[in-house]
Amino acid sequence: MRTVLVTGANKGIGHEVARQLGSKGFHVFVGARSSEKGETATQALRKNGAVATFISLDVSAPESIRNAVQVVAGTADHLDVLVNNAGVILEGDNSIAQLDPETVTKTFQTNTLGPLLVTQALLAVAFEKQRTASHQCFQRWRAAGRRHGYVGPRLLPLQDCP
Ligand SMILES: NC(=O)c1ccc[n+]([C@@H]2O[C@H](COP(=O)([O-])OP(=O)(O)OC[C@H]3O[C@@H](n4cnc5c(N)ncnc54)[C@H](OP(=O)(O)O)[C@@H]3O)[C@@H](O)[C@H]2O)c1
Repeated sequence: MRTVLVTGANKGIGHEVARQLGSKGFHVFVGARSSEKGETATQALRKNGAVATFISLDVSAPESIRNAVQVVAGTADHLDVLVNNAGVILEGDNSIAQLDPETVTKTFQTNTLGPLLVTQALLAVAFEKQRTASHQCFQRWRAAGRRHGYVGPRLLPLQDCP
């Protein structure tokens, strides 16, 4: 089954993307920073016939990102699509002369750093899984080689190995 993680999927564009991909047969991981809003949005997708799983995810908090990625990795054996949708437009005076540095930092943390950290955390897990699978495949080759006195690609179907 194809899989997708949508950040900020409890409302707006993120929720609509989740709804449409869910109706196309994706298993949707519904990222949301509020458990209540996330669970409600997940239930709505399920009522619509989708396979949906709520993932607690605040993209401005590295610890939350790490936890969310572990939950996704523990639930699905792969992720096809990441939709880095979560974002904020914080209130404030638009004049550069009045712009509050705290607002800029918070916006940057969520809109710029957040997507980068989510992407990196997911890639790290994907590469780790691939490395583990490659290692297991190599061990199977070696074991088969010992049994048959030969180590080579003819002993095991290559398509089984990443
Ligand atoms: N709508 C537009 O015209 C437009 C134009 C350009 C770009 N965009 C961008 O497109 C994206 C979606 O826009 P939208 O109109 O659907 O916005 P929206 O209705 O305000 O929804 C934003 C979503 O992001 C979530 N979010 C905010 N900060 C988060 C965080 N730190 N961690 C996790 N989730 C967080 C929100 O969760 P909460 O409900 O908890 O706040 C909400 O689910 C945003 O990134 C926005 O900047 C929108």
